[in-house]
Amino acid sequence: VEPLGIAVVGAGYWGPNLVRNFGSAPGWRLRWLCDLDVARARTVLGEHSTATATADLAEALADPAVDAVAVATPADTHLAVAMAALEAGKHVLVEKPLAATRADGLKLVEEAERRGLVLMCDHTYCYTPAATAIRNLVHSGELGDIHFVDSVRINLGLVQRDINVLWDLAPHDLSILDFILPDGVRPISVSATGADPIGAGQACVAYLTLRLSGGAIAHSHVNWLSPTKVRTTMVGGSKRTLLWDDLNPAQRISVFDRGVDLTPPEELGRDQRRAALVSYRSGDMVAPALREREALQAVVEEFGSAIREGRAPLTDGRAGLRVLDILQAASSSLAANGSVVTVEGNEENR
Ligand SMILES: NC(=O)c1ccc[n+]([C@@H]2O[C@H](COP(=O)([O-])OP(=O)(O)OC[C@H]3O[C@@H](n4cnc5c(N)ncnc54)[C@H](O)[C@@H]3O)[C@@H](O)[C@H]2O)c1
Repeated sequence: VEPLGIAVVGAGYWGPNLVRNFGSAPGWRLRWLCDLDVARARTVLGEHSTATATADLAEALADPAVDAVAVATPADTHLAVAMAALEAGKHVLVEKPLAATRADGLKLVEEAERRGLVLMCDHTYCYTPAATAIRNLVHSGELGDIHFVDSVRINLGLVQRDINVLWDLAPHDLSILDFILPDGVRPISVSATGADPIGAGQACVAYLTLRLSGGAIAHSHVNWLSPTKVRTTMVGGSKRTLLWDDLNPAQRISVFDRGVDLTPPEELGRDQRRAALVSYRSGDMVAPALREREALQAVVEEFGSAIREGRAPLTDGRAGLRVLDILQAASSSLAANGSVVTVEGNEENR
């Protein structure tokens, strides 16, 4: 099959990873790298690339050899860049978060749907072997009913100019949550608190609590100011609880047959004491074998397959919107010092 032509926009921190993966993927040919700073784009391409560096997006969009555009510019430029690409009839992969506001994200989703173009959001973590394994463990019922999800994503991060730490880091946790939760378990409301202790003009530390339908709770701690790097997600179920430690390649996932069981009172005799209701399980821990694969390689492959097969990708624009639904509610809550805010739109965006 003919390779698809791709133009990557943005040659900053993340763009070069897209360049590398599109550049080496069998189904793709890298045609253009576009950055306002064209010298930067040239440096990223190096001497041997057959792709062309440009500062002019219109030049790349006018090239009929370009089938698709990958957008790795700052969040507040996603709408303008991705919309220009859609209007030029190109399929689009946008970095997370899909856009800087929910309304902007909706414009992109509607434009892509109107034109019958593929719009994909790079929810990178959904393409890791670990996330796939967790999704399977949840969906197969191996964990039982989901009781809680707790994630920590902290390190000395790049303080962003256009977005706060919630919009920068929580999309990872929220997209993972969206990906692994069983059908019918959805975020209902959110409460977010945060702080800007260094005077960056943005919240640099934030805590986000989500109520899920069915009574479960999810919590995320995101932080640009932590001297140590932690990337863990715990998924607690009625049968098993798992821990994903992404910084432990030898044992990224541990599944514990440990937990607390509560016997329903109606099954107990009248004279039995309350203490008898609670029992503790302390069974085995299992670490499932996972393949090693760079997530972006799977992202690039899925984008190509979705275009060729004329179908929605695994993390389509609607998945990007569901994350924005939560971020938007979280921003309102943050501004109201943690008041509980209802997550709007999450159902209609399925
Ligand atoms: N998927 C992930 O794991 C992951 C990781 C890091 C960043 N990101 C996302 O990637 C995007 C870029 O982040 P970054 O850290 O690389 O930012 P960055 O600031 O390092 O780089 C952005 C680049 O875009 C260029 N640019 C800005 N506006 C442009 C425009 N209109 N046209 C062309 N070029 C333009 C800038 O000159 C700069 O070189 C963000 O959306 C971010 O959230 C995703």
